[in-house]
Order: sequence, then C-alpha cells, then structure tokens
Amino acid sequence: MADKPPVALEDRGESGDGRRYSPSAARNRDPILHALRELLPEKAAVLEIASGTGEHGAWFTQHLQGLDWTYSDIDPESLVSQRAWRAADKQGRLRGPLVIDASSDDWGGAERAAAWQAIYSANMVHIAPFGAAEGLFRGAGRLLAPDGTLILYGPFARHGNIAPSNAAFSENLKARNPDWGVRDLDVQLAPLARAAGLTLQDVREMPANNLIAVFRHV
Ligand SMILES: C[S@@+](CC[C@H](N)C(=O)[O-])C[C@H]1O[C@@H](n2cnc3c(N)ncnc32)[C@H](O)[C@@H]1O
Repeated sequence: MADKPPVALEDRGESGDGRRYSPSAARNRDPILHALRELLPEKAAVLEIASGTGEHGAWFTQHLQGLDWTYSDIDPESLVSQRAWRAADKQGRLRGPLVIDASSDDWGGAERAAAWQAIYSANMVHIAPFGAAEGLFRGAGRLLAPDGTLILYGPFARHGNIAPSNAAFSENLKARNPDWGVRDLDVQLAPLARAAGLTLQDVREMPANNLIAVFRHV
C-alpha cells in the first residue's frame, strides 16, 4: 500500500507517553497565547479544529484558567497524541478528541448549536483542500454562540498581496498537493465568512509573516 501523505510539514517529536511535539508549535504558542488572552472571554468553551499534536490546547489551558478546550482532527495519529496530552493534563479542562473532518457538515459530538464561545484553527486551511475552509466557516456559522468568534492562525494573503516567504511556501505546498496553498483572507475567506453569518473583525500580525484573523458571529 502506498504511504499516506503527511498531514504536517515538519517532523513531530514524540515523548514516551504518546504526546507529540512540533517545532513550530514551540515557536508560535506564546505569541498566540498573548493574542488569545486579549481575544477570548475569561470563561470560554473552545472547539479546536485540526489540533495536530495537541500542544496548543495544552499550553493555552495551562495559562488561561477559564478555558475549556476540546480537541479534534481527522488524522488518527494526531488523535493519539491529543489523547495523550489530555491524559497528562492535571486540570481537567482538555476534552475530546473528537473526530471532525472540517469539510463535512456533520461535526459529530460538536454539533450543539450555540455551544462554543470560540472555534480555533491553526495552520489548517492552507494544508487541506479548500473544502476544509468552506466547511470550517459553515460549521462556525452553525455552532458558534451569538457573539462567538472563529479564530484562525497561519499564513495568509491579503487583497491579492502575499509576502514573498508565504508565496514561496504556497508554491511548495502546491507542489506537494495541488489542492493545498496559502489562502487569501479577503478574497477567498471573507466571502465564506459573510455567507455563514460572520464578519472579519480583527487581524493581528504575528511573527514570521503569520496572522491571527478573528471572525465574529453576528
Ligand atoms: C500543519 S497541521 C497543524 C496542526 C496544529 N493546528 C498546529 O498548528 O500545530 C494540519 C492539521 O490539519 C489536519 N487536517 C487536515 N485536513 C483536515 C480536515 N479536513 N479536517 C480536520 N483536520 C484536518 C491534519 O490532520 C493536521 O493535524
């Protein structure tokens, strides 16, 4: 059988207990934490789409005491790591992982209208077919509480402009899979948001030409 294509672009380290670590999460978790501290309400139920290793949820719940964080992914190996992070969690505020394919209109155990104050997804929409972005916005429109937020982190183009490093990255992604590629926040994603009843409320610059984009459910 042919090898499965990788879901992440970097080698993920592993601890003896099944928790996986990715070098990029170690680099970006503090800048993202800083932004989430300002963006999330003090108490919030957060659904993460495409949790990968699970490090982000573990780090954020450790530092933001009011968060209740639910992991999800479609990749079985990532789900194993998320389970291990949850098992190692002493605070009991990590939940899941749920098996969620963002592109689907049935998010299984997450399907409770107005259940989530925030939906968070980092580094997925460019490393998945565009249908995953479409489904992500539909899901946010379906499941976010009124005034809830969809928070995306990653590289994006803006109004057709893209940083040279992100353009090169996008070409590299497309060479791996023609359905992947860095998305344009304004041209490609904002229309999906509008159709789902969300508006682009805030965009924050992050290190290494990444952005945090905040869409509010209206
Ligand atoms: C580059 S990793 C990012 C992981 C983590 N969010 C982070 O920033 O470290 C991309 C993740 O997206 C997940 N993914 C890809 N397509 C997906 C889909 N359609 N629905 C849900 N997750 C998906 C992969 O399994 C993988 O865990």
